[in-house]
Amino acid sequence: MRKPVIAGNWKMHMTCSEAKDYMSVFLPLIKETSNDRHIVIAPPFTSLSTMADLSVMSNLELSSQNVHWEDSGAFTAEISPSMLLEHRVKYAIVGHSEPRKYFSESDKQINLRAKSAQSNHLIPIVCVGETFEQREKGEAERVIRRQVEQGLEELDFTNVVVAYEPIWAIGTGKTCESIEANRICTLIRKWSGYSDLRIQYGGSVKPSNIDELMSMSDIDGVLVGGASLDPESFGRIANYN
Ligand code: PGA
Repeated sequence: MRKPVIAGNWKMHMTCSEAKDYMSVFLPLIKETSNDRHIVIAPPFTSLSTMADLSVMSNLELSSQNVHWEDSGAFTAEISPSMLLEHRVKYAIVGHSEPRKYFSESDKQINLRAKSAQSNHLIPIVCVGETFEQREKGEAERVIRRQVEQGLEELDFTNVVVAYEPIWAIGTGKTCESIEANRICTLIRKWSGYSDLRIQYGGSVKPSNIDELMSMSDIDGVLVGGASLDPESFGRIANYN
């Protein structure tokens, strides 16, 4: 059973006091939401502790925006699995296109992060997706397949989420057509060889397109950036029909 995962990625937004204001609006909006879906927020590391306290009696789960493969050591600016577990974090986003682009994260590093997450009982959300140029040149499928095969190597597929995020649709307002997003998710499922793999779509998800995206056969949730920063709009997304 592929229980959908509706995840908000706050990126480098929200101080602790902003997170408190957000939660006072957001938590009541999901109080009655059916438990046929997971609702997740990935705040910046600095507000994880606050978010863990605020969500303790709720149906909101927490994700980190990264995780390192070592449990401690000289890795300035990184975060270890045990540091996250202390704050009731359940998921870890790895391989998002921003660290891939700005910090040249490789598929090998992403795979190490994902394996470390799994061996510490965190569920990795492994992001994949092509650039606009790769799509224009007809390379999208080859690029995504490589990211899936290398990023998911040696992972337990029962405990991972893949997020298909076409880079040209992230933060641009240009959503990938639902039918095309679904087609790629179907291919990812096929390449993985595991029919119950959970696959999200991400890229300009908003209240106006969530119901259509979630009606697609191979889309098992969404990873939401911009629209997750507004509690009303993420509330609507979490309460998709
Ligand atoms: P967006 O970001 O919803 O703002 O397009 C998605 C993401 O980066 O995960």
